[in-house]
Amino acid sequence: MEGAQAAEWDRRKQQELYALLKRRGFVWPSFEIYGGVAGFYDLGPLGSVLKDNIESAWKRTFLVEEGFMQVDCPSISPETVFRSSGHLEKFSDIMTRCVSCSAPFRADHLLSDAGIDAVDLTAEVMGTYLTEKDVRCPSCGGTLGPVEEFNLMFKTHIGPGTDRPAYLRPETAQSIFMDFSMLYRSNRERVPFGVAQLGKGYRNEISPRQGLLRQREFHMAEGEFFFDPLERTFPPFSTNRDRSVPLLMASDPERTVEMPLGRAVEDGIICSEVLAHFMGVTHRFVLSIGIPRAAMRFRQHGRKEMAHYANDCWDLEVLTSSGWVEMVGIADRSAYDLSQHARGSGCDLTALRRFTTPRTKEAVKVRTDKKVLGPLFKARAKEVDELLCGTGSAELERMRSSGTIQLVLKDGSSVNVPASAFSFETVTETVQGERYTPHVVEPSFGIDRLMVAVLEHSYVETASSPMKESDKDEDGDGGPYRVMRFLPSVAPIKCGVFPLLPKDNLPELALKLSSELRSAGLAVHYDPSGSIGRRYARMDEVGTPFALTVDHRTLEDGTVTIRDRDTGEQRRLRSSDAARKVLDLVQCSTAFSDL
Ligand code: GLY
Repeated sequence: MEGAQAAEWDRRKQQELYALLKRRGFVWPSFEIYGGVAGFYDLGPLGSVLKDNIESAWKRTFLVEEGFMQVDCPSISPETVFRSSGHLEKFSDIMTRCVSCSAPFRADHLLSDAGIDAVDLTAEVMGTYLTEKDVRCPSCGGTLGPVEEFNLMFKTHIGPGTDRPAYLRPETAQSIFMDFSMLYRSNRERVPFGVAQLGKGYRNEISPRQGLLRQREFHMAEGEFFFDPLERTFPPFSTNRDRSVPLLMASDPERTVEMPLGRAVEDGIICSEVLAHFMGVTHRFVLSIGIPRAAMRFRQHGRKEMAHYANDCWDLEVLTSSGWVEMVGIADRSAYDLSQHARGSGCDLTALRRFTTPRTKEAVKVRTDKKVLGPLFKARAKEVDELLCGTGSAELERMRSSGTIQLVLKDGSSVNVPASAFSFETVTETVQGERYTPHVVEPSFGIDRLMVAVLEHSYVETASSPMKESDKDEDGDGGPYRVMRFLPSVAPIKCGVFPLLPKDNLPELALKLSSELRSAGLAVHYDPSGSIGRRYARMDEVGTPFALTVDHRTLEDGTVTIRDRDTGEQRRLRSSDAARKVLDLVQCSTAFSDL
């Protein structure tokens, strides 16, 4: 969809698409038999596979091509995790409720409906504007109450009782930060490295109103790339340096500028080669699932819009029927998360920056005198000795000059240590490197939103239908002829297989062909009856790129027809070659015109 074409997304077309998605088993609202709950959707048989195919493409990009390690961690975390991460304090939206009907609303959305951009406003200012502009409840016209912060995490408890509060994760990232040391060891204590996690995220949105685009439970795919901030260059960036992308900078939000990522880094527009590299990887991936180049842009967050953990952030936005929508956030999270979890847990979450050649340095060591400690502390002498060595020379010196050297033992008792029990010695040590907290760049993908973007950009209404007039009412849906032009790699079904007629051994041959395609790993839909035009049309509507038909000529010469969804063109193939040829077409190693 080009810029101007977005305007073509009239309400009727949008409704046609969403009706098709429900009717054909892509997606529908959850809990419908009980009236539904906003922000929850079920993926049906085709939607689940489409989602899986988008995730597979993501895994191919991040796990295979970029070499990220994958983890799979719990969706529920104890409260202490989110106290450290900052989500408990800062992951909120500003809410107001209608005094008459109690309906909750996001204050920034009400202001934006009233023509006020609320992105940079504090809660207090939003409250003032709502009153000054006399904004009313959109549901009943009632007066709105005071504004308040509403934390977006779903709360629960671990085990019986309420003494172990926990939350459903609002992002998959936190487990990766908590597991840093394990992952660092898995990577043979080398930085940089990337870690990925796919799974559900949960956000208790105040009043979700963008349908599939703002869900309370959603699929995420996140990568956390750990690197040394002192490394100014990032060699893998050579693969993306020349990639030209549209940038909408925070300093000039009215103008999209197309430029190579390399130049954006040189001009200080993008803060690092690592961030720019993952913008390039994201661009390549989103193109690979069928979103047109012209419907994408990177928008930089303004200072106040940025999440509490971010230093710089660029969203990859796609033009949809709801306008430009964030699909991916690519954030520089600096050392924020590792530092916060190190502080919160008391664990070391640092890496070693190796020196090119080992360095020597002078260090002051504590030397204990066992002849003093033994008689004085007897059975506890060993523990006192270890405590003295572990306390460090600077702290012992401070205690000594304050006149009391008091240590607390494991059993909680205190002992006073005489100054004669230790001395200091200056030694020369060889050091291999220094410890530091790695920085993180995070590409974070909303898989459901990408699926919506793929669906919208694949949806085509056309006058040319494979159906005869007499076929048209068979499904009772009438209306325009619709095609989902999915790329073969994401299409839920890769090939339809049909006997032309349900007789003369044609179904048996078609079933055999289906099973050959399935053995080759291709998702197939076998449909034995109805008009052939109608069967093609059903496959077009769910985006199946190819269809094979067994007919009477198959009985004579062993060939079948193959039909291309997008052109309607048909060619003949040897039935025995069909599985391999369809596989080649799906993998794009053969073009239909070369069959
Ligand atoms: N991890 C990115 C986000 O929560 O949006």
